[in-house]
Amino acid sequence: MQIIRDIAMLHRAVTALKQGGKSVALVPTMGALHDGHLSLVHMARRVADHAVVSIFVNPTQFGPNEDFAAYPRDEARDAALLVDAGTSLLWAPDVGTMYPGGHSTHIEVAELGADYCGAARPGHFDGVATVVAKLFNQVRPDIAIFGEKDWQQLAIIRRLARDLDFGIDILGAPIARDTDGLALSSRNAYLSGAQRAAAAAFPAALSMAAKAIAGGADVGETLAKAEAAIIRGGFDSVDYVALADADSLERLTAFRKPARLLAAARIGRTRLIDNWPVE
Ligand code: PAF
Repeated sequence: MQIIRDIAMLHRAVTALKQGGKSVALVPTMGALHDGHLSLVHMARRVADHAVVSIFVNPTQFGPNEDFAAYPRDEARDAALLVDAGTSLLWAPDVGTMYPGGHSTHIEVAELGADYCGAARPGHFDGVATVVAKLFNQVRPDIAIFGEKDWQQLAIIRRLARDLDFGIDILGAPIARDTDGLALSSRNAYLSGAQRAAAAAFPAALSMAAKAIAGGADVGETLAKAEAAIIRGGFDSVDYVALADADSLERLTAFRKPARLLAAARIGRTRLIDNWPVE
């Protein structure tokens, strides 16, 4: 696996990978890789000839009081996992390469970015959209793969790729979950033993609520019950539990397909997100 940190070298290396009509799938990450990320790499290898992974802890998607400095970083460990997973190239730029002095262009996917995590984390999705657009231009993949765990991010990136004519197929990969149902996340590493045990209440509440709504229960009451169950389970606060149109992300007060429960909750200083299909 090649590890590249310079944009001109990246262009040369990707051109070489694409020789003979070979395809490239990009898996953008912020590192601290877990089995969820590796499932994206395995998917990349199934759908394309080469898997390219980026690791970049993107400062512009963290708010001033968020965990940018504390975000776990271990490139050597991540690189070893990527070699085992059959990655062809690791793109690992530093902040100065990604945002050279005077960088002043930003992308906002206005309609999809305002609610849910966008409301709780102002500017977050502008940072995501901007860095993902840059990664697309830098790597120029045929396909890009994102986890469904951040459903709102995936919807924003699909819209971004369509609106700006990137000509890249955006694929969503199913959420990888631990045996107790908790979605795998780099931020799970922040949880104490007791918090980690309690965190299983989050997906359990969403799964119950999804079943109830699909079975005809009142949406408002069911969402309120889910919030209460999450707090009872040991969380300190709930940012939102909402029923949304799975594509447009419009908030729904009555069930209609395709629908998705979207949620974010805080346990101690850790903010977890999750989502659940309502079918
Ligand atoms: O989901 C993530 O890890 C990040 O938001 C992404 C897509 C790599 C952009 O920094």
